[in-house]
Amino acid sequence: MTKYAFVTGANKGIGYELVRQLLEKEYHVFLGARDEELGQQAVESLGFSNVSLVLVDISDIHSIQYAKHRILEVTDHLDLLINNAGIAPDFNIKPSELKVETLRSAFDVNFFGTFHMIQEFLPLVQKAPRGKIVNLTTDMASQTKFDNGEVHQLNFLAYNSSKTAINSLTLAFGKEFGESGPEIFGVTPGFTSTDLNGNAPGGQSAAEGAEIILTHALSETNYNGKILDRNGVMPW
Ligand SMILES: NC(=O)c1ccc[n+]([C@@H]2O[C@H](COP(=O)([O-])OP(=O)(O)OC[C@H]3O[C@@H](n4cnc5c(N)ncnc54)[C@H](OP(=O)(O)O)[C@@H]3O)[C@@H](O)[C@H]2O)c1
Repeated sequence: MTKYAFVTGANKGIGYELVRQLLEKEYHVFLGARDEELGQQAVESLGFSNVSLVLVDISDIHSIQYAKHRILEVTDHLDLLINNAGIAPDFNIKPSELKVETLRSAFDVNFFGTFHMIQEFLPLVQKAPRGKIVNLTTDMASQTKFDNGEVHQLNFLAYNSSKTAINSLTLAFGKEFGESGPEIFGVTPGFTSTDLNGNAPGGQSAAEGAEIILTHALSETNYNGKILDRNGVMPW
């Protein structure tokens, strides 16, 4: 039976690599992009037949609903939903200098966008034999690790706190799903050089980041309600 996956924010970076690696594993993948031209270019550059472009801007509920209709034309179920789309609008801005509009924009996309995606696509994930929802997080969103200084001390309040809120959302849906429902968990790939951080030197490649995410996403282990890094379950 064909397995279906939907990856948001997949025209570039980690999302693009997630799509490529899932295609190699013979999933039918819906490549989410908010810009049609960039999305089409990404689909064409992959060179696979089992990939379809789905336009989606996760900050717009109507766009998410339209994306759901498009996917329902192809399948009634999703084995894997990867909420990868995200923004980091306050790189190098101190909390004391952060504008509230910037803080709101991070929450609009990262938190409310992910929340809407989960609510809209949950019925499709529930129809898969073992449906999973994976939310991209960051190790800086672990309050414990950030406070302990175990991770990069990039004190970006908007980005980090919107990802901490995603962790909280992961826990809340995970509690609701329990042991019988679909699985939902957060994964951080760790520092990956992409446009998100201005392709900062020293990070792993997007392909390496995607591999870490898929190791957990395709694992036999049930990680429902947890957040994970490359080594496994992370503290909150
Ligand atoms: N890079 C890292 O070190 C790192 C570490 C931990 C977690 N992550 C997470 O990994 C995910 C992917 O990041 P990346 O590093 O690959 O960044 P990236 O290269 O900047 O890619 C981000 C993707 O999200 C899309 N996007 C942004 N806003 C969107 C919206 N409103 N609706 C739909 N798509 C939207 C972008 O589309 P456009 O091209 O149209 O802007 C792009 O496709 C993010 O959630 C990020 O927080 C990254």
